[in-house]
Amino acid sequence: MSPTASASGPAAPGTRLTIRRPDDWHVHLRDGAMLRAVVGHTARQFARAIVMPNLRPPITTAAAAAAYRQRILAALGESDAAGAPAGPASAPFGADFTPLMTAYLTESLDPAELERGQAEGILTAAKLYPAGATTNSDAGVRDLAHIGPVLETMERIGLPLLIHGEVTDPAVDIFDREAVFIERQLIPLLERHPGLKVVFEHITTADAAAFVAEAGPNLAATITPHHLHINRNSLFAGGLRPDFYCLPVAKRERHRLALRAAATSGNPKFFLGTDTAPHAREAKESACGCAGIYNAPYAIESYAAVFEQEGALERLEAFASTFGPRFYGLPPNTGSLTLERQDTEAETAEAVPVALELANGTSTPTRLVPFHAGEVLPWRLV
Ligand code: NCD
Ligand code: ZN
Repeated sequence: MSPTASASGPAAPGTRLTIRRPDDWHVHLRDGAMLRAVVGHTARQFARAIVMPNLRPPITTAAAAAAYRQRILAALGESDAAGAPAGPASAPFGADFTPLMTAYLTESLDPAELERGQAEGILTAAKLYPAGATTNSDAGVRDLAHIGPVLETMERIGLPLLIHGEVTDPAVDIFDREAVFIERQLIPLLERHPGLKVVFEHITTADAAAFVAEAGPNLAATITPHHLHINRNSLFAGGLRPDFYCLPVAKRERHRLALRAAATSGNPKFFLGTDTAPHAREAKESACGCAGIYNAPYAIESYAAVFEQEGALERLEAFASTFGPRFYGLPPNTGSLTLERQDTEAETAEAVPVALELANGTSTPTRLVPFHAGEVLPWRLV
Protein backbone atom coordinates (compact mmCIF):
# COMPACT_ATOMS: atom_id res chain seq x y z
CA MET A 1 0.00 0.00 0.00
CA SER A 2 1.32 3.45 -0.80
CA PRO A 3 1.76 5.96 1.96
CA THR A 4 -1.00 8.53 2.05
CA ALA A 5 -0.36 12.21 1.36
CA SER A 6 0.00 14.25 4.50
CA ALA A 7 -2.07 17.35 5.06
CA SER A 8 0.91 19.48 6.06
CA GLY A 9 4.42 19.72 4.72
CA PRO A 10 5.75 18.14 1.55
CA ALA A 11 4.83 14.51 1.03
CA ALA A 12 7.58 11.89 0.95
CA PRO A 13 8.88 10.86 -2.49
CA GLY A 14 6.86 7.92 -3.77
CA THR A 15 3.69 9.07 -2.05
CA ARG A 16 0.68 8.59 -4.29
CA LEU A 17 -2.44 10.69 -4.45
CA THR A 18 -5.48 9.33 -6.28
CA ILE A 19 -8.36 11.65 -7.02
CA ARG A 20 -11.59 11.39 -8.96
CA ARG A 21 -10.89 12.28 -12.60
CA PRO A 22 -10.99 16.08 -12.93
CA ASP A 23 -12.63 18.41 -15.45
CA ASP A 24 -11.29 21.64 -16.89
CA TRP A 25 -13.96 24.32 -16.84
CA HIS A 26 -12.13 26.73 -19.19
CA VAL A 27 -9.94 25.76 -22.15
CA HIS A 28 -8.97 27.15 -25.54
CA LEU A 29 -8.56 24.22 -27.91
CA ARG A 30 -8.29 26.34 -31.08
CA ASP A 31 -8.88 24.72 -34.48
CA GLY A 32 -7.07 23.08 -37.38
CA ALA A 33 -3.39 22.25 -36.88
CA MET A 34 -3.20 23.88 -33.44
CA LEU A 35 -6.22 21.85 -32.26
CA ARG A 36 -4.55 18.64 -33.41
CA ALA A 37 -1.36 19.64 -31.60
CA VAL A 38 -2.91 20.49 -28.23
CA VAL A 39 -6.11 18.52 -27.70
CA GLY A 40 -4.35 15.42 -26.36
CA HIS A 41 -2.80 17.34 -23.49
CA THR A 42 -6.20 18.33 -22.13
CA ALA A 43 -7.84 14.98 -22.87
CA ARG A 44 -5.22 12.92 -21.06
CA GLN A 45 -5.90 14.66 -17.74
CA PHE A 46 -9.48 15.84 -17.92
CA ALA A 47 -12.65 13.87 -18.61
CA ARG A 48 -14.54 16.97 -19.75
CA ALA A 49 -13.65 20.51 -20.65
CA ILE A 50 -15.61 23.69 -21.25
CA VAL A 51 -14.37 24.74 -24.67
CA MET A 52 -14.08 28.45 -25.34
CA PRO A 53 -15.77 29.73 -28.52
CA ASN A 54 -13.32 32.51 -29.45
CA LEU A 55 -12.33 31.11 -32.83
CA ARG A 56 -12.15 33.27 -35.93
CA PRO A 57 -15.02 33.61 -36.74
CA PRO A 58 -16.43 32.92 -33.25
CA ILE A 59 -18.81 30.05 -32.49
CA THR A 60 -22.17 31.81 -32.35
CA THR A 61 -24.67 29.12 -33.36
CA ALA A 62 -25.62 25.66 -32.15
CA ALA A 63 -24.71 24.28 -35.58
CA ALA A 64 -21.24 25.84 -35.44
CA ALA A 65 -20.73 24.45 -31.93
CA ALA A 66 -21.82 20.97 -33.06
CA ALA A 67 -19.44 21.09 -36.02
CA TYR A 68 -16.59 22.30 -33.78
CA ARG A 69 -17.28 19.48 -31.33
CA GLN A 70 -16.96 17.02 -34.21
CA ARG A 71 -13.63 18.54 -35.24
CA ILE A 72 -12.36 18.23 -31.66
CA LEU A 73 -13.33 14.55 -31.45
CA ALA A 74 -11.86 13.90 -34.90
CA ALA A 75 -8.59 15.60 -33.88
CA LEU A 76 -8.43 13.38 -30.78
CA GLY A 77 -8.95 10.31 -32.91
CA GLU A 78 -6.10 11.37 -35.18
CA SER A 79 -3.71 11.97 -32.27
CA ASP A 80 -1.18 9.19 -31.90
CA ALA A 81 2.06 8.63 -30.06
CA ALA A 82 3.72 11.33 -32.18
CA GLY A 83 1.20 13.90 -31.05
CA ALA A 84 1.02 12.56 -27.51
CA PRO A 85 2.14 14.67 -24.62
CA ALA A 86 5.86 15.09 -24.15
CA GLY A 87 5.16 14.73 -20.44
CA PRO A 88 6.23 11.94 -18.16
CA ALA A 89 3.02 9.99 -18.27
CA SER A 90 1.58 7.69 -20.85
CA ALA A 91 -1.91 7.85 -19.43
CA PRO A 92 -4.85 6.50 -21.41
CA PHE A 93 -5.03 8.94 -24.22
CA GLY A 94 -8.30 10.80 -24.08
CA ALA A 95 -10.47 8.17 -25.71
CA ASP A 96 -13.34 9.08 -23.41
CA PHE A 97 -12.92 12.86 -23.48
CA THR A 98 -16.10 14.95 -23.69
CA PRO A 99 -15.88 18.52 -24.98
CA LEU A 100 -18.58 20.75 -23.48
CA MET A 101 -19.44 23.45 -25.97
CA THR A 102 -20.15 27.13 -25.49
CA ALA A 103 -21.59 29.92 -27.63
CA TYR A 104 -19.96 33.31 -28.00
CA LEU A 105 -22.39 36.08 -27.13
CA THR A 106 -22.76 38.88 -29.66
CA GLU A 107 -25.18 41.75 -29.68
CA SER A 108 -27.06 40.24 -32.61
CA LEU A 109 -27.45 36.73 -31.18
CA ASP A 110 -30.99 35.36 -31.24
CA PRO A 111 -31.93 34.00 -27.77
CA ALA A 112 -33.79 31.13 -29.48
CA GLU A 113 -30.42 29.91 -30.76
CA LEU A 114 -29.25 29.31 -27.20
CA GLU A 115 -32.47 27.61 -26.23
CA ARG A 116 -32.24 25.30 -29.24
CA GLY A 117 -28.55 24.59 -28.61
CA GLN A 118 -29.23 23.62 -25.02
CA ALA A 119 -32.30 21.51 -25.90
CA GLU A 120 -30.29 19.62 -28.53
CA GLY A 121 -27.57 18.85 -25.98
CA ILE A 122 -24.98 20.90 -27.81
CA LEU A 123 -24.52 23.98 -25.64
CA THR A 124 -23.47 23.78 -21.98
CA ALA A 125 -22.95 27.52 -21.45
CA ALA A 126 -22.51 30.86 -23.21
CA LYS A 127 -19.48 33.10 -22.99
CA LEU A 128 -19.41 36.85 -22.54
CA TYR A 129 -16.38 38.64 -23.92
CA PRO A 130 -16.57 42.40 -23.51
CA ALA A 131 -15.63 43.63 -27.01
CA GLY A 132 -11.89 44.18 -27.21
CA ALA A 133 -11.07 42.63 -23.80
CA THR A 134 -8.84 39.83 -25.07
CA THR A 135 -7.78 37.53 -27.95
CA ASN A 136 -10.51 37.30 -30.64
CA SER A 137 -13.04 39.36 -28.72
CA ASP A 138 -13.79 42.05 -31.33
CA ALA A 139 -17.20 40.52 -32.03
CA GLY A 140 -18.06 40.55 -28.31
CA VAL A 141 -20.56 42.61 -26.39
CA ARG A 142 -20.09 46.39 -26.20
CA ASP A 143 -22.89 47.01 -23.72
CA LEU A 144 -24.59 44.41 -21.51
CA ALA A 145 -27.82 46.39 -21.85
CA HIS A 146 -27.87 45.29 -25.51
CA ILE A 147 -28.24 41.60 -24.66
CA GLY A 148 -31.04 41.79 -22.07
CA PRO A 149 -33.33 39.27 -23.87
CA VAL A 150 -30.44 36.80 -24.25
CA LEU A 151 -29.66 36.99 -20.55
CA GLU A 152 -33.35 36.64 -19.63
CA THR A 153 -33.54 33.47 -21.72
CA MET A 154 -30.39 32.05 -20.15
CA GLU A 155 -31.77 32.80 -16.70
CA ARG A 156 -35.03 31.05 -17.55
CA ILE A 157 -33.49 27.92 -19.09
CA GLY A 158 -30.58 27.66 -16.61
CA LEU A 159 -27.79 28.10 -19.15
CA PRO A 160 -24.70 29.37 -17.29
CA LEU A 161 -23.10 32.66 -18.33
CA LEU A 162 -19.30 32.55 -18.36
CA ILE A 163 -17.75 35.99 -18.02
CA HIS A 164 -14.42 37.41 -19.02
CA GLY A 165 -14.60 40.02 -16.26
CA GLU A 166 -12.61 43.03 -17.36
CA VAL A 167 -13.77 46.46 -18.41
CA THR A 168 -12.40 47.59 -21.74
CA ASP A 169 -12.36 51.32 -20.99
CA PRO A 170 -8.81 52.33 -22.00
CA ALA A 171 -8.86 54.97 -19.28
CA VAL A 172 -8.89 52.23 -16.64
CA ASP A 173 -5.44 50.90 -15.76
CA ILE A 174 -5.02 47.32 -16.99
CA PHE A 175 -4.28 46.09 -13.45
CA ASP A 176 -7.59 47.55 -12.23
CA ARG A 177 -9.88 46.33 -15.01
CA GLU A 178 -11.19 43.27 -13.14
CA ALA A 179 -11.97 45.12 -9.91
CA VAL A 180 -13.69 47.91 -11.85
CA PHE A 181 -15.71 45.32 -13.81
CA ILE A 182 -17.22 44.07 -10.55
CA GLU A 183 -18.51 47.51 -9.64
CA ARG A 184 -19.55 48.74 -13.08
CA GLN A 185 -20.85 45.58 -14.72
CA LEU A 186 -21.12 42.52 -12.52
CA ILE A 187 -23.07 43.92 -9.58
CA PRO A 188 -25.74 45.54 -11.81
CA LEU A 189 -25.90 42.36 -13.94
CA LEU A 190 -26.51 40.10 -10.94
CA GLU A 191 -29.16 42.54 -9.68
CA ARG A 192 -30.96 42.50 -13.02
CA HIS A 193 -30.76 38.69 -13.34
CA PRO A 194 -30.82 37.17 -9.84
CA GLY A 195 -31.61 33.70 -11.20
CA LEU A 196 -28.77 33.65 -13.74
CA LYS A 197 -25.95 31.18 -13.09
CA VAL A 198 -22.68 33.04 -13.59
CA VAL A 199 -19.08 31.88 -13.62
CA PHE A 200 -16.61 34.71 -13.12
CA GLU A 201 -13.82 33.19 -15.20
CA HIS A 202 -10.10 33.12 -14.37
CA ILE A 203 -10.28 35.52 -11.44
CA THR A 204 -7.04 37.33 -10.67
CA THR A 205 -7.74 39.63 -7.72
CA ALA A 206 -8.48 39.56 -4.01
CA ASP A 207 -11.46 41.76 -4.90
CA ALA A 208 -12.96 39.08 -7.15
CA ALA A 209 -12.29 36.26 -4.68
CA ALA A 210 -13.99 38.19 -1.87
CA PHE A 211 -16.89 39.23 -4.06
CA VAL A 212 -17.57 35.66 -5.20
CA ALA A 213 -17.26 34.26 -1.67
CA GLU A 214 -19.83 36.74 -0.40
CA ALA A 215 -22.28 36.53 -3.32
CA GLY A 216 -25.25 34.18 -3.55
CA PRO A 217 -25.07 30.56 -4.75
CA ASN A 218 -25.55 31.47 -8.43
CA LEU A 219 -22.08 32.99 -8.69
CA ALA A 220 -18.92 30.87 -8.85
CA ALA A 221 -15.39 31.41 -10.19
CA THR A 222 -12.66 29.48 -11.93
CA ILE A 223 -9.01 29.90 -10.98
CA THR A 224 -6.08 29.12 -13.29
CA PRO A 225 -2.84 27.43 -12.24
CA HIS A 226 -0.74 30.34 -13.46
CA HIS A 227 -2.52 32.94 -11.35
CA LEU A 228 -1.75 30.75 -8.34
CA HIS A 229 1.96 30.61 -9.23
CA ILE A 230 2.95 33.97 -10.70
CA ASN A 231 2.43 37.61 -9.86
CA ARG A 232 3.03 40.64 -12.04
CA ASN A 233 6.71 40.76 -11.17
CA SER A 234 7.12 37.42 -12.94
CA LEU A 235 6.39 39.18 -16.23
CA PHE A 236 9.58 41.21 -15.86
CA ALA A 237 11.87 38.83 -13.97
CA GLY A 238 15.28 39.17 -15.63
CA GLY A 239 13.74 40.67 -18.78
CA LEU A 240 10.40 40.66 -20.59
CA ARG A 241 8.79 37.22 -20.22
CA PRO A 242 6.15 36.71 -22.91
CA ASP A 243 5.29 33.23 -21.65
CA PHE A 244 3.84 34.73 -18.49
CA TYR A 245 1.66 37.19 -20.35
CA CYS A 246 -2.05 36.38 -20.35
CA LEU A 247 -5.34 38.15 -19.84
CA PRO A 248 -6.45 39.03 -17.31
CA VAL A 249 -2.82 39.89 -16.57
CA ALA A 250 -1.27 38.60 -13.32
CA LYS A 251 -1.62 41.07 -10.45
CA ARG A 252 0.27 41.98 -7.25
CA GLU A 253 1.49 39.34 -4.82
CA ARG A 254 -1.32 40.02 -2.34
CA HIS A 255 -3.81 39.05 -5.04
CA ARG A 256 -1.97 35.81 -5.80
CA LEU A 257 -2.06 34.93 -2.10
CA ALA A 258 -5.80 35.67 -1.94
CA LEU A 259 -6.38 33.38 -4.94
CA ARG A 260 -4.37 30.60 -3.29
CA ALA A 261 -6.45 30.99 -0.15
CA ALA A 262 -9.70 30.88 -2.16
CA ALA A 263 -8.70 27.86 -4.28
CA THR A 264 -7.57 25.81 -1.29
CA SER A 265 -10.35 26.97 1.07
CA GLY A 266 -12.77 24.14 0.32
CA ASN A 267 -15.40 26.70 -0.71
CA PRO A 268 -17.38 25.06 -3.56
CA LYS A 269 -17.70 28.40 -5.38
CA PHE A 270 -14.10 28.12 -6.54
CA PHE A 271 -13.12 25.41 -9.00
CA LEU A 272 -10.60 24.44 -11.63
CA GLY A 273 -10.40 26.18 -15.00
CA THR A 274 -6.95 26.33 -16.56
CA ASP A 275 -7.55 28.94 -19.29
CA THR A 276 -4.88 27.07 -21.24
CA ALA A 277 -4.48 29.34 -24.27
CA PRO A 278 -1.87 28.13 -26.77
CA HIS A 279 -0.17 30.57 -29.11
CA ALA A 280 2.73 29.40 -31.27
CA ARG A 281 6.10 30.35 -29.85
CA GLU A 282 6.65 32.73 -32.77
CA ALA A 283 3.43 34.57 -31.91
CA LYS A 284 4.33 34.91 -28.22
CA GLU A 285 7.93 36.00 -28.80
CA SER A 286 7.26 38.86 -31.15
CA ALA A 287 7.05 42.64 -31.15
CA CYS A 288 3.39 42.37 -30.14
CA GLY A 289 3.17 39.06 -28.30
CA CYS A 290 -0.18 37.31 -27.89
CA ALA A 291 -1.87 36.90 -24.51
CA GLY A 292 -2.25 33.32 -23.29
CA ILE A 293 -0.37 30.72 -21.27
CA TYR A 294 -0.14 27.11 -22.42
CA ASN A 295 -0.57 25.16 -19.20
CA ALA A 296 -2.46 22.06 -20.41
CA PRO A 297 0.52 19.63 -20.47
CA TYR A 298 1.12 19.83 -16.69
CA ALA A 299 -2.09 21.39 -15.44
CA ILE A 300 -3.03 19.03 -12.62
CA GLU A 301 0.62 18.79 -11.54
CA SER A 302 0.71 22.59 -11.35
CA TYR A 303 -2.37 22.75 -9.14
CA ALA A 304 -1.08 19.89 -6.98
CA ALA A 305 2.11 21.86 -6.26
CA VAL A 306 0.03 24.77 -4.99
CA PHE A 307 -2.26 22.63 -2.85
CA GLU A 308 0.74 20.90 -1.30
CA GLN A 309 2.49 24.19 -0.58
CA GLU A 310 -0.69 25.42 1.09
CA GLY A 311 -1.00 22.24 3.18
CA ALA A 312 -4.32 21.46 1.49
CA LEU A 313 -3.67 18.42 -0.72
CA GLU A 314 -6.74 16.74 0.70
CA ARG A 315 -8.82 19.54 -0.89
CA LEU A 316 -7.39 19.19 -4.40
CA GLU A 317 -9.99 16.60 -5.42
CA ALA A 318 -12.97 18.77 -4.51
CA PHE A 319 -11.52 21.79 -6.34
CA ALA A 320 -10.57 19.76 -9.41
CA SER A 321 -13.31 17.15 -9.64
CA THR A 322 -16.38 17.89 -7.50
CA PHE A 323 -17.20 21.59 -7.23
CA GLY A 324 -17.29 22.25 -10.99
CA PRO A 325 -19.81 19.54 -11.88
CA ARG A 326 -21.88 20.48 -8.85
CA PHE A 327 -22.18 24.07 -10.06
CA TYR A 328 -22.97 23.01 -13.63
CA GLY A 329 -25.49 20.41 -12.44
CA LEU A 330 -23.57 17.52 -13.99
CA PRO A 331 -22.59 14.19 -12.40
CA PRO A 332 -18.99 13.91 -11.19
CA ASN A 333 -16.72 11.62 -13.21
CA THR A 334 -16.35 7.98 -12.28
CA GLY A 335 -12.72 7.38 -13.27
CA SER A 336 -9.65 8.38 -11.30
CA LEU A 337 -6.25 9.96 -11.80
CA THR A 338 -3.14 9.23 -9.75
CA LEU A 339 -0.24 11.54 -9.00
CA GLU A 340 3.06 10.52 -7.50
CA ARG A 341 5.42 12.67 -5.45
CA GLN A 342 8.86 12.79 -6.98
CA ASP A 343 12.08 13.67 -5.23
CA THR A 344 12.66 17.04 -6.86
CA GLU A 345 16.37 16.96 -5.95
CA ALA A 346 17.00 13.52 -7.43
CA GLU A 347 18.88 13.22 -10.72
CA THR A 348 16.02 11.14 -12.04
CA ALA A 349 13.47 13.90 -11.34
CA GLU A 350 11.65 14.81 -14.53
CA ALA A 351 11.56 18.46 -15.56
CA VAL A 352 8.96 20.15 -17.73
CA PRO A 353 10.44 20.46 -21.24
CA VAL A 354 11.66 23.96 -22.09
CA ALA A 355 9.80 23.77 -25.40
CA LEU A 356 7.39 21.42 -27.16
CA GLU A 357 7.33 20.50 -30.82
CA LEU A 358 3.97 18.87 -31.38
CA ALA A 359 2.77 16.90 -34.36
CA ASN A 360 -0.30 18.45 -35.94
CA GLY A 361 -0.93 16.61 -39.18
CA THR A 362 1.17 19.03 -41.27
CA SER A 363 4.85 18.89 -42.17
CA THR A 364 5.70 21.68 -39.69
CA PRO A 365 5.25 20.87 -35.99
CA THR A 366 3.60 23.37 -33.65
CA ARG A 367 6.13 25.00 -31.34
CA LEU A 368 4.85 25.89 -27.88
CA VAL A 369 6.43 26.82 -24.58
CA PRO A 370 4.59 25.07 -21.74
CA PHE A 371 3.92 26.75 -18.41
CA HIS A 372 6.63 25.73 -15.88
CA ALA A 373 9.14 25.24 -18.73
CA GLY A 374 12.39 23.87 -17.31
CA GLU A 375 11.01 23.45 -13.77
CA VAL A 376 10.78 20.23 -11.80
CA LEU A 377 7.26 19.93 -10.41
CA PRO A 378 6.82 17.93 -7.23
CA TRP A 379 3.93 15.77 -8.46
CA ARG A 380 3.78 13.80 -11.66
CA LEU A 381 0.97 11.96 -13.34
CA VAL A 382 1.26 8.18 -12.99
C1 NCD B 1 -7.09 33.78 -24.34
C2 NCD B 1 -6.80 33.35 -25.76
O1 NCD B 1 -5.65 33.39 -26.18
O2 NCD B 1 -7.75 32.95 -26.46
N1 NCD B 1 -5.95 34.47 -23.83
C3 NCD B 1 -5.60 34.62 -22.53
O3 NCD B 1 -4.65 35.34 -22.25
N2 NCD B 1 -6.26 33.99 -21.58
C4 NCD B 1 -8.33 34.59 -24.28
C5 NCD B 1 -8.86 34.77 -22.87
O4 NCD B 1 -9.33 33.84 -22.26
O5 NCD B 1 -8.81 35.91 -22.37
ZN1 ZN C 1 -9.73 32.03 -21.70
